[in-house]
Amino acid sequence: MKKKKIALIPGDGIGPEVISEGVKVLKAIEQVDANLSFEFTEYPWGCEYYLEHGKMMDENGLDQLKDTDAIYLGAVGYPGVPDHISLWDLLLKIRKGFDQYVNLRPVTLLNPSLTPLKNKTEKEIDFLVIRENSEGEYAGAGDWLFKGKPEEVVLQTGVFSRKGTERIIRYAFEEARKQKKTLTSISKANALNYSMVFWDEVFDEVGKEYPDVVTYSYLVDAASMFFVQQPERFEIVVTSNLFGDILTDIGAAITGGMGLATGANINPEREFPSMFEPVHGSAPDISGKGLANPIAAIWSVAQMMEFFGEEKWSELIVTTIKELLEENEHLTPDLGGNATTEELGNQFIKLLTGQD
Ligand code: NAI
Ligand code: MG
Repeated sequence: MKKKKIALIPGDGIGPEVISEGVKVLKAIEQVDANLSFEFTEYPWGCEYYLEHGKMMDENGLDQLKDTDAIYLGAVGYPGVPDHISLWDLLLKIRKGFDQYVNLRPVTLLNPSLTPLKNKTEKEIDFLVIRENSEGEYAGAGDWLFKGKPEEVVLQTGVFSRKGTERIIRYAFEEARKQKKTLTSISKANALNYSMVFWDEVFDEVGKEYPDVVTYSYLVDAASMFFVQQPERFEIVVTSNLFGDILTDIGAAITGGMGLATGANINPEREFPSMFEPVHGSAPDISGKGLANPIAAIWSVAQMMEFFGEEKWSELIVTTIKELLEENEHLTPDLGGNATTEELGNQFIKLLTGQD
């Protein structure tokens, strides 16, 4: 019997609404699978916590989380707390503190009706973006000089260490080799004449160790166009923190929107827990109304199962999402339906467990 400790951080806005549907899925799995059980600990951290306690999470928050097997996070951020505080003091603290330097974001069309692209089917939109998740443009390095004065200067520095660049590129090559897929690096060496020239060099260097992997290299502006016009070009993509953030929103848009996009923050060495979360934010515009689509959060559970080595469950969850989309009767308004978050979640459990 495998027992996994899971930390729940539902967070703000629609975070708790979608996480509670994901937890139902985990509970259904442990009921059906005699070899698997989960122990949940819930943390009340987020913007409400901040307004009450003056901090997004406890000072020893990382200590409290460090012995868990996975963190399952909803979303953080809410009007009333500046976004840079909610992001840096919770989400980025965990990503950086636990060295979750790999961000895995599948761009997979689960049903042909979901893409706004003409004539593109599941076959043409099916790739994985591997985003650098620990440094780059989001390293938080910079300065703010002469604040408020006419000579005010702001510096935001991209940090690309050899270690950081090499390990993400190597991870991507390993994944491409394992899955027998092509690997595309997305950078911008023409304009970013230090960081991205370096990135491209490291990509070529590491690539020499993987002669079996077919590679491509695109500038990020051209790649953005190809994401929309010819997504079939991509199988595995590796890119920097900022570019990956932006490109995967395009990825979400071509596969059905924010309600379906998932992302795993992985510490491959398993020295620290990894974190699984929908890509979307707290969506204050729809929170508290039962309108949130929980599919992204449920897909995160599939990524968690894969990370646990439970591929069977991971595949079954994705197949069940496809079934639910195909059935087209219990979908939330973002997908043109009129089901609530909970109704979609309940139907998912029915399909997953085969119970009426
Ligand atoms: P958002 O992802 O929360 O919302 C963007 C749009 O997508 C909204 O119209 C929203 O209604 C819709 N949407 C998002 N998730 C949905 C779902 N599951 N079902 C149906 N519709 C959905 O991004 P936004 O508005 O830029 O940010 C809102 C707050 O969330 C901000 O405070 C921001 O900092 C935070 N945020 C947090 C993230 C995280 O915790 N990982 C990621 C992105 C934003
Ligand atoms: Mg984003």
